[in-house]
Amino acid sequence: MNILLLGSGGREHALAWKMAASPLTERLYCAPGNAGIAQEAECVALDLSDHAAVVAFCREHKVDLVVVGPEAPLCAGIVDDLESAGIKAFGPTRAAAALEGSKGFTKDLCRANGIPTAAYARFKDAAVAKAHIHSHGAPIVVKADGLAAGKGVVVAQSQAEAEAAVDMMFAGGIFVSNPGEAGGEIVIEDFLDGEEASFFALCDGETAIPLATAQDHKRAFDGDKGPNTGGMGAYSPAGNIDLAMSGRIMNEIIAPTMRAMKAMGTPYKGVLYAGLMITAEGPKLIEYNARFGDPETQVLMLRLMSDLVPALLASRDGVLKSFDLRWYAEPALTVVMAAKGYPGNYARGTVIEGLDEAAAVERVEIFHAGTKTDGGRILANGGRVLNVSATGKTVREAQARAYEAIARIRWPEGFYRHDIGWRAVERERRP
Ligand code: AMP
Ligand code: GLY
Repeated sequence: MNILLLGSGGREHALAWKMAASPLTERLYCAPGNAGIAQEAECVALDLSDHAAVVAFCREHKVDLVVVGPEAPLCAGIVDDLESAGIKAFGPTRAAAALEGSKGFTKDLCRANGIPTAAYARFKDAAVAKAHIHSHGAPIVVKADGLAAGKGVVVAQSQAEAEAAVDMMFAGGIFVSNPGEAGGEIVIEDFLDGEEASFFALCDGETAIPLATAQDHKRAFDGDKGPNTGGMGAYSPAGNIDLAMSGRIMNEIIAPTMRAMKAMGTPYKGVLYAGLMITAEGPKLIEYNARFGDPETQVLMLRLMSDLVPALLASRDGVLKSFDLRWYAEPALTVVMAAKGYPGNYARGTVIEGLDEAAAVERVEIFHAGTKTDGGRILANGGRVLNVSATGKTVREAQARAYEAIARIRWPEGFYRHDIGWRAVERERRP
């Protein structure tokens, strides 16, 4: 098969690495890709918002399957446009991607189907929203309705903070969830107390099968301090979701979501990524993402024994029922190297050296998240730049290998956390 992968991050490098190893893959293209992906795939400069150009490329290069990495093209309906052109595409349609694209949509779906989530209300007016905050009190959570690149959620500890968030969101215009439609909606919900966890399922519109567990570290600095990021590292297995909890999440959250989406005529296909709070009453949904996690995918691909390509095809073709995914038992861990300043402002174009020496460490794989080549040099070209990943007999061992590799990388303009996987390592120490 000829496959076109869309995206340019570490998630896409890991997917490209795994798909390139498949005997089913004839030619692998990636748009736009990065310097690391270029080692696995032929990178092509396509504008992902130009769906007609993507369709034209697929026709010209006889692409049999398009795999969509990031949420923006999904929410913009690239799967719909590819499928109507007769090209198979992995990922949800625009209507199904509303599970990520609109928090209000997902909250309403949960309410209508008895799916556990924080109690909430939707608002289109700032004054009404503030009155709600007054009557409710703090802590309370204020969310922009649409895609906001991680900037749309404020967990407010006081009423004043919640009101400031309301003003910021209505003034900022960041809630236009569906391109071309007017936005201007927020969700206010109860604060949930518990331990956060992530859960991933591969879905085909009807059947959902859980992937191995993985957990990321959202905060920028050691000790889970500092600003929220897209994820500064991840490990698998997660350790905070056992088989019984996995069963509850499937039965109480994922399966009813699949049934509801199908009943609405918008069956969900692709990876469904649930952000959860494990509360005293059980698992509750915080949010859905309509895609693989980044950097969780990097550790999942290192642990996936099965061929990825038939799994993605089975999701698209609706035949997951007879499908089985196998995983290596050994843990994997990835450390993100980011440009200093991330998640705020950072410089691009700084030189990274020592990658070959780092990749020579046993059982280490380096996935590029934001890089480009300049002659023979590798330059940083994003906020999150590298994912230094490793496997081991234990999380501790994988962690040691990843940091040994990082020590060989010379990039003064970069930074990373020194404690990725600390919870899992602590769990391993317990008798
Ligand atoms: P979200 O973008 O919806 O995943 O929210 C970002 C982060 O805000 C989550 O990872 C949680 O840490 C936090 N959060 C969101 N909603 C709630 C809630 N209802 N209660 C407590 N924390 C929340
Ligand atoms: N690692 C968080 C995400 O992919 O959204």
